[in-house]
Amino acid sequence: MKVKINKCICYDTTFKEMISIMIKNNLKSIDELRNIKPVSLNCKLCLPYINKMIETGKTEFNETLN
Ligand code: FES
Repeated sequence: MKVKINKCICYDTTFKEMISIMIKNNLKSIDELRNIKPVSLNCKLCLPYINKMIETGKTEFNETLN
């Protein structure tokens, strides 16, 4: 099954929203982002994707789940 990963589900916040907050406030890390908007503090399944987002600017990731 193919799935599109584009948000932190626990905090109902899309990666697009996160990146626009980061750009607007010139943030460089998830810790700085969390000071403004709490994200990725529950299950943390989104964390590797947020790190990839920070690295690459991508806000959608396709994964295949079995
Ligand atoms: S999906 Fe982001 S903390 Fe659970």
